[in-house]
Amino acid sequence: MEIRGNKLYIGAFAAERLARRYGTPLYVYDAETIRRQYQKLTASVPYSPVGYFYACKANTNPVLLEMFRRLGAGLETVSRGEVLAGLRAGFRPDQILFTCSNMTEAELDFLIAQGICANLDSLSQLQRWGLRKGAPHVSLRVNLGIGLGPHRHVVTGGGDSKFGIHAGQFDQARAIAARHGLRIVGLQQHIGSNILDHRGMLRAVEALLRVARQFPNLEFVDFGGGFGVPYRPEERPFAVRQWGRSMARMFRAFCAAYGRPLRMVFEPGRYLVAEAGILLVTVTDIKTTPERTFVGVDSGFNHLARPALYGAYHMVVNASRVHGRTARVTVAGNICESGDLFAANRPLPPTRVGDVLAILNAGAYGFSMSSNYNSRPRPAEVLVSRNRARLIREREAWE
Ligand code: LLP
Repeated sequence: MEIRGNKLYIGAFAAERLARRYGTPLYVYDAETIRRQYQKLTASVPYSPVGYFYACKANTNPVLLEMFRRLGAGLETVSRGEVLAGLRAGFRPDQILFTCSNMTEAELDFLIAQGICANLDSLSQLQRWGLRKGAPHVSLRVNLGIGLGPHRHVVTGGGDSKFGIHAGQFDQARAIAARHGLRIVGLQQHIGSNILDHRGMLRAVEALLRVARQFPNLEFVDFGGGFGVPYRPEERPFAVRQWGRSMARMFRAFCAAYGRPLRMVFEPGRYLVAEAGILLVTVTDIKTTPERTFVGVDSGFNHLARPALYGAYHMVVNASRVHGRTARVTVAGNICESGDLFAANRPLPPTRVGDVLAILNAGAYGFSMSSNYNSRPRPAEVLVSRNRARLIREREAWE
């Protein structure tokens, strides 16, 4: 992104031009940013072998899935739909991982028939997987009581969390595996999302490596995803280099004690796509009340749920006039709920009806969490790659 002549540009394109050409609300992704983030992460861990499985719940656009496949990533999935999207994007079954709670019988059958490796989330899943006799290799998702994340809805470890097999159940897990002739070849831990504290992450890694010694047949250890990105102006980026160096050092020491080198696995979602995405919206109304000025736009939490769901902060830029004397305004969506605010009491330069606003860092958990609430169509998606813009999902039609 760049500012030229007081206008916001994405690659070679003025945001206003994209808004005119494709209409708003519009998700725009910058391919260069995705590539840069992927390279930054993969270059940071001086260890081999290591696999990066893109957690596509963050953004499942088929063109982005293909892009990740070409970059060399695997795919981390949570549903039959995501697996099918991955297969259609050309991923082989052995390049796909699956992790999900409350699996149905049909889902277990599907994964085994497709030959997909699953991080099993409960003793029941392990038992039911074993009864099927079709796939002797399994991985276990563990919960060692450690959780991190900026909002309780995105913390996925600890006693309050529904996820993973707890340490007190490991003996039972091993017994179930032995009874059904299953080999536990992987251990996975995912403690939460949008974590900027790399030291906190490393403490969870230490705990996982401590228990990994109790599983003699491991081929990989999967450290999950969770790498955060700065959303607020005062937040610092995740210290990926320091984290990566420590990871490699700790894992080498672990493998030496374990007796053989294992594969490291990561499941990054947000880190790869969040900063690449912008949601463009058009100002349709400006309303002043005794308390506030509301800048009303043609989108809402049906298209970007994060502010309403997690109180998440997203920077808002007036793409039509980036600079100017600012006044505090509240950017409100068009959904019939009071919680439908993209930003509350934010300084924005003078804003007029017809201006295009850019809601930043919307590439992860934006479109993928969108809905048809209030019977409104979902936005189109465009991928910008330097001087090329390409429609990668059509706007939903009323029909
Ligand atoms: N692996 C597993 C098993 C996961 O559950 C998740 C995310 C990831 C990997 C990827 O996490 P990431 O690297 O993106 O942090 N909708 C929320 C985030 C929910 C994350 C759910 N699980 C948000 O918008 O903040």
